[in-house]
Amino acid sequence: MDKLRMVGGSPLKGEVKIAGAKNAALPILCACLLTDEPIVLRNLPDLQDVRTMLKLLQEIGVEVIFPDQDDRNHVVLNAAVIKSSEATYEMVKTMRASILVLGPLLARMHSAKVSLPGGCAIGARPVDQHIKGLKAMGASIKIKGGYIQAETKPPTERLKGASILTDMITVTGTENLLMAATLASGTTTLENAAREPEVGDLAELLVKMGAKISGIGTDRLVIEGVEKLHGAEHSVIPDRIEAGTFLCAVAAVGGEVLIQDCRPDTLDAVMVKLKEAGLQMEVGSDWIKATMQTRPMAVSFRTSEYPAFPTDMQAQLMAVNAVASGSSTITETIFENRFMHVQELNRLGADIAIEGNTAIAQGVEKLSGATVMATDLRASASLVIAGLAAQGETQVDRIYHLDRGYDRMEQKLTRLGARIERIK
Ligand code: EPU
Repeated sequence: MDKLRMVGGSPLKGEVKIAGAKNAALPILCACLLTDEPIVLRNLPDLQDVRTMLKLLQEIGVEVIFPDQDDRNHVVLNAAVIKSSEATYEMVKTMRASILVLGPLLARMHSAKVSLPGGCAIGARPVDQHIKGLKAMGASIKIKGGYIQAETKPPTERLKGASILTDMITVTGTENLLMAATLASGTTTLENAAREPEVGDLAELLVKMGAKISGIGTDRLVIEGVEKLHGAEHSVIPDRIEAGTFLCAVAAVGGEVLIQDCRPDTLDAVMVKLKEAGLQMEVGSDWIKATMQTRPMAVSFRTSEYPAFPTDMQAQLMAVNAVASGSSTITETIFENRFMHVQELNRLGADIAIEGNTAIAQGVEKLSGATVMATDLRASASLVIAGLAAQGETQVDRIYHLDRGYDRMEQKLTRLGARIERIK
């Protein structure tokens, strides 16, 4: 298992280019299942979850072509032939986002069999809202042998448009129902829809494919189903979480970094908090220049759905608070178990206590290097930031979590002057 070894204390300096967003790429890859014509994608991030999704799509029958072998950011997908409408337990257990094939397969093939995801490191994460929405669209759904077995009624019929109000805001739930609704007969209304930019990016691709969607970017999506979708070309939106992670790294470690190819307009809540922490930012349409010359100041925050502060940035900003002056409270409202990094940050000398869904961090002047273990994707990023801010050597084990969602993070950090290396 790969590890990352780093020696903290070097300020970050230089330029970094942000990759396409993982959480936009995953549903966008699944959208290719909605048409028998080619989908051309650019700015696809080269990371493990994308490779896993491509493998799942290939098992389903999708032809995956990288026109230029040296360019893993440009792919052509062709789902002319669907050989199997199944996502196995083996696939879903390695990546929960595999659930995103359910809506498109059911809409196009009128049946699908997808393993029911279990709980995961950050929470129980049920998919009841995905199922409830598809049932409202006329699907018959049974859970059998650990699988969601879904078909339209009768099996020759399309899904039917419906009015759906989810009990809570769910990102992949909105994406699954949105994709299913594009090929349903009649109009579907999704109320309480997630407004995350990744949902908007998926919707924009679907529109290019011929879908009729209004309300993109709002919490009410109206989809007028069409009989057929066609091929399209799309460039994946830049990853706001990767950009935010680099901003937090500069805030915790110090230095001056130009973050390029990003979408600052999707990072408002994160930038507001980092400004409060003392990070200086100059902002252009697709870049942010971040400068930090002092110790950060502690900032309290709570996670919530977009456009509020993202849960996917909670661990990274906590690492900044760990070395900040003053104390902060951090409340996690989206997932019930997303504080696994706290004990590991404390192994580096942080002073963070957990009370229910709130972490109370007392900033310390210096962290000191240690061996720590990554427990999930964003926890890994938080430990890397803390390790770069710590004195001495830090080793982060189980780095496969980081590789799931970051495109060459240690190479990008090395180019910024960080002393970090991968140990095979
Ligand atoms: N929920 C339910 N029932 C459902 C769906 C969701 O109870 O049917 C609950 C979840 O348990 C959770 C809350 O609703 O408490 C929100 O979950 P959501 O469905 O929005 O999360 P998700 O779609 O599974 C996506 C991202 C996550 C990100 C969350 C929240 C993808 C592939 N994943 O997950 O990304 O944290 O939205 O923004 O888009 C990450 O990238 O590290 C990551 C975990």
